[in-house]
Amino acid sequence: RIAGPSGLVIFGVTGDLSRKKLMPAVYDLANRGLLPPGFSLVGFARREWADEDFAQVVHDAVKEHARTPFREEVWQQLSEGFRFVQGDFDDDVAFDRLRQTIEALDKERGTGGNFAFYLSVPPKFFPNVVQQLQEHGLSDSSGHGWRRAVIEKPFGHDLKSAQELNKIVHRVFEPNEVFRIDHYLGKETVQNILALRFGNTIFEPLWNRSYVDHVQITMAEDIGIGGRAGYYDGIGAARDVIQNHLLQLLALTAMEEPTSFHPKALVGEKLKVLNAVRLPDDLSKHTVRGQYAAGWQGGEQVPGYLEEEGIDPNSTTDTYAAIKLEINTRRWAGVPFYLRTGKRLGRRVTEIAVVFQRAPHSPFDAYDTSELGQNALVIRVQPDEGVTIRFGSKVPGTSMEIRDVTMDFAYGESFTESSPEAYERLILDVLLGDANLFPRHQEVERSWEILDPIERHWAKNGRPESYTSGTWGPKAADEMLARDGRSWRRP
Ligand code: BG6
Repeated sequence: RIAGPSGLVIFGVTGDLSRKKLMPAVYDLANRGLLPPGFSLVGFARREWADEDFAQVVHDAVKEHARTPFREEVWQQLSEGFRFVQGDFDDDVAFDRLRQTIEALDKERGTGGNFAFYLSVPPKFFPNVVQQLQEHGLSDSSGHGWRRAVIEKPFGHDLKSAQELNKIVHRVFEPNEVFRIDHYLGKETVQNILALRFGNTIFEPLWNRSYVDHVQITMAEDIGIGGRAGYYDGIGAARDVIQNHLLQLLALTAMEEPTSFHPKALVGEKLKVLNAVRLPDDLSKHTVRGQYAAGWQGGEQVPGYLEEEGIDPNSTTDTYAAIKLEINTRRWAGVPFYLRTGKRLGRRVTEIAVVFQRAPHSPFDAYDTSELGQNALVIRVQPDEGVTIRFGSKVPGTSMEIRDVTMDFAYGESFTESSPEAYERLILDVLLGDANLFPRHQEVERSWEILDPIERHWAKNGRPESYTSGTWGPKAADEMLARDGRSWRRP
């Protein structure tokens, strides 16, 4: 799978995402030989840069963040296709210049009129940029090649704003020309969920309410909000992560088998399961939000959320969120799905734990089985990528003592191939026009519809509970599971 003649335009190219993820991903793709020889990268931003300044910034970003080694010959060829267009999003002259730049690249480098426009800008600028693309004849290649829009999250902040954004984007681009980024879908371990479930026979017979007790989906981060106060405050953990990454993980974990690995079939199944999601009646009992307070992390003292630079000292923004959901289908009726995410937690880890019911009867009651827990299958999304199965085993000796053991699959041990970075995979797929790993507008809207009542409930009910940085979140989250006779994993 090698991309054909094409180019990429990045709006918001001076931002963090561009420097840390997009530029290195383009270089890594080139280095792996997956880009066409004339591939071109156009940066668009307000900064007064010449093409050379832009190339220097990409160079530094690649040196610092690329996955693959720096090779001068790859860099030379790639950087010849770098252009920078200076301007504001409402600057007509700048968009004319962008059109001329693209036309020139078509001639000089054979990009064939094929361009993807990556909107790495806050959502309030989407309408402007999309409209400008249309008005300046950029969204339509008039039969010479393709045009695609790539849209970074956050895609709105609730159902209404997401619907409005979708309307605006679809006025200009056809649905199959729009690629909404959820970078979790670009992760190797996330794609492996479907391989694990539907490429094997041993798991799927157990993957239902007859055997599964509950499912825990955790995305824990040790970092705070860093320099992202402007984006994060007022948004919070649930909108930042649950609406997109965690609900996508839930959809992949709970969906039925698609008839083929084709975008329509996949989206259809994901949407079915998202449509079947039901919130508990009493949201005060089954949802929890928290906010980190000062504490210690990695041997360093860290400030609380309210002391972070740029944060309103009275902010009620959640930096931790846990919710319980049910899925009203024959497969999952009565099986709770617990989702949690937070910043400044014990460690960085994302995992999906399918926890199985206890054996219906134990003939070993006379022996010590206190260290026999529930069987679990844990998909380790990151950082220690792999899959763990936990089950009970007899402790060697003369008694019938049983204790939990684990069986592990680790990517590093089983494969010599390295995983591409999520953005690498996703950018390549955009250039190939492969929409499998991109949520469609219905999924995005449905996910907001799930989250909106929770956000409304929180907005009416006081402040998030404070938790000490470096711990596993607010006490209320533990109580939430304890009431159901369960407990969170401590991965
Ligand atoms: C982003 C969120 O989507 O995902 C960030 O906006 C979060 O707040 C990031 O830190 C985490 O991504 P990853 O790939 O490091 O788990």
